[in-house]
Amino acid sequence: MTVVLRSPQEFKQWRRQQKGSSVGFVPTMGALHSGHEELLKRARQENDLVVLSIFVNPTQFNDPKDFEKYPLTWDQDLKMAETNKVDAIFYPRYPEMYPDNYRYKVTEGEYSKLLDGAHRPGHFDGVLSVVMKLFNIVAPTKAYFGEKDFQQMTLIKGMVESFFMDLEIVPVATVREEDGLAKSSRNTRLNSEERAKAPAIYKAIRESKSAEEAANSLNQQGFKVDYVTDIDNRRYVAAFLGEVRLIDNVQI
Ligand code: PAF
Repeated sequence: MTVVLRSPQEFKQWRRQQKGSSVGFVPTMGALHSGHEELLKRARQENDLVVLSIFVNPTQFNDPKDFEKYPLTWDQDLKMAETNKVDAIFYPRYPEMYPDNYRYKVTEGEYSKLLDGAHRPGHFDGVLSVVMKLFNIVAPTKAYFGEKDFQQMTLIKGMVESFFMDLEIVPVATVREEDGLAKSSRNTRLNSEERAKAPAIYKAIRESKSAEEAANSLNQQGFKVDYVTDIDNRRYVAAFLGEVRLIDNVQI
């Protein structure tokens, strides 16, 4: 049975009762898809207990419209959690997660300023701050993050190391649709024409000889490219299709 716990205090009490069990943790903003399911499966294989959190974290949205439009699919999410034998869902509300109303935050000063950080000011402060809070509440043994958000995963791993936090970060390979599009909660916001175009993003970063060539090719196909950048043998892209911002990355 999956229990749903709404406040940090309630969750911590449940967690104290599980003393001695390893906990695999999958933090999410809900709107679960098969990419999340992959994280839950890995967590199930490697731990005694699995915890899922669902919290659409306002502090990581630099664009309020993007926050308002973020899909909410609680009934489906609960079903997926139950199917995947999640032991507990932590499903908090803003005032309980931010009793200080975000006066305190976690900031990284270099890598978080590049790529998505350069285009979404404050985004990674919001991500790192909420993930630090979630780790302190959930006290996981291992936490699972998709490589689609490679910059996010790397920054979280760095935070865990820098603050001597007692858990392991497990990166999980990007799950893709058959046509190559990386699974994302935002894909549901694409109209049918945009959805048909979207796989070009993966094709462009994989097949182009340079970042510049990939950016030009996407712009010509009607994407509005934020960036295509190569760093340390990895090519990162962020581009809009209509109002929907998609990101992806590949090893090069
Ligand atoms: O990747 C996400 O869904 C979010 O950025 C995370 C890690 C749950 C923090 O809000």
